[in-house]
Amino acid sequence: MKHALILFGGVSSEHEVSLRSAAAVLNNIDRTRYDVSAVGITKDGRWFLYTGEAGHIADGSWIGDETHLTAAALSPDRSVHGLYLFRSAGVEIVRVDVVFPVLHGKNGEDGTMQGFLQLAGIPFVGCDALSSGMSMDKAVTNMIADHIGVPQAGWFSVPREEYVANPAAFAAKAAETLGFPLFVKPANAGSSVGVTKVCDESSLDSAMRLAFTHDRKVVLEEGIDGRELECAVLGNDDPAAPMVGEVVPCHDFYDYEAKYLSGNDSEIRIPAPVDAETFDRVRTLARKIFLALGCSGLSRVDFFCRRSDGAVLFNEINTIPGFTSISMYSKMLIAAGMPFGEIITRLLELAQEKWSDA
Ligand SMILES: Nc1ncnc2c1ncn2[C@@H]1O[C@H](COP(=O)(O)OP(=O)(O)O)[C@@H](O)[C@H]1O
Ligand SMILES: [Mg+2]
Repeated sequence: MKHALILFGGVSSEHEVSLRSAAAVLNNIDRTRYDVSAVGITKDGRWFLYTGEAGHIADGSWIGDETHLTAAALSPDRSVHGLYLFRSAGVEIVRVDVVFPVLHGKNGEDGTMQGFLQLAGIPFVGCDALSSGMSMDKAVTNMIADHIGVPQAGWFSVPREEYVANPAAFAAKAAETLGFPLFVKPANAGSSVGVTKVCDESSLDSAMRLAFTHDRKVVLEEGIDGRELECAVLGNDDPAAPMVGEVVPCHDFYDYEAKYLSGNDSEIRIPAPVDAETFDRVRTLARKIFLALGCSGLSRVDFFCRRSDGAVLFNEINTIPGFTSISMYSKMLIAAGMPFGEIITRLLELAQEKWSDA
């Protein structure tokens, strides 16, 4: 038996999304092959081993469930290779074979946790620190997409100090090079937090200021009138990208509310009802982006298919996409013939393959 550690929660605007993903992982991980522990990180960054029910993770009540909480920390010490549990009787050491950081957004998906796990020498699911960090930053991914010739919306990025020094200059540049509508996004965020569709110059400044509350760098993009296509990628050096899905947002764009709060009003179509050429183009470009960023394990790569000409344009990559059994990522792989439990097993195996010589 291997000992798998599931990390959940996190100091991130996507904390709640992580709780749901982690509960799904805990409910579906193959317990004939893995002993499983779960460590939750609160919104203010405290760490606890949680031994209660997965359902209490999903609904957030785990943190009040004191009989099932033990203060815990991952050790960077490779001889520990796992957790310190701070029990009243003293510190207990628990060896861990593989970690699944089921953490979305900042402090979990952005390379910080990955760097820590690399330091600790513990195999973990997903991308390493560098590719996680690069994939998280939309200015970096856009630069790389340009560099490798993957088409995308027109864009530029601007650091806070430069913008604040001369907002009018950037408004003029945006109007001239991108036009309206355009999208303003924090370079590093997720779940549409801080993303605004800007329809005219007068609303640009408030959108920029909102985005700057989430990051010191903001990306502006030409608005694409397109269908939203997503592709699940699974693997290490020769990853599979078997399935493409479509999201039909119930709002003007796929904002936080359309993603998580409006019930099931946003429609998901798997496989995406597009022609075979578009389907394969998405799969090819998804693999190309995944490999160019040095990703491993899993990612969901998102695209637009422009209505006017059918062009497939890269939007963004998520290295730890929403991961419940009804999330887009898993639904796509399930539709490709891989049950949810098997996806988890495969990811844990890929983690151990990748780090076997670390
Ligand atoms: N350039 C764009 N053109 C049209 N819609 C966009 C563009 N960029 C983002 N959007 C809309 O905003 C949503 C969130 O933006 P996205 O870049 O995916 O950020 P996040 O990482 O927060 O998901 C997208 O799903 C899409 O609906
Ligand atoms: Mg997105």
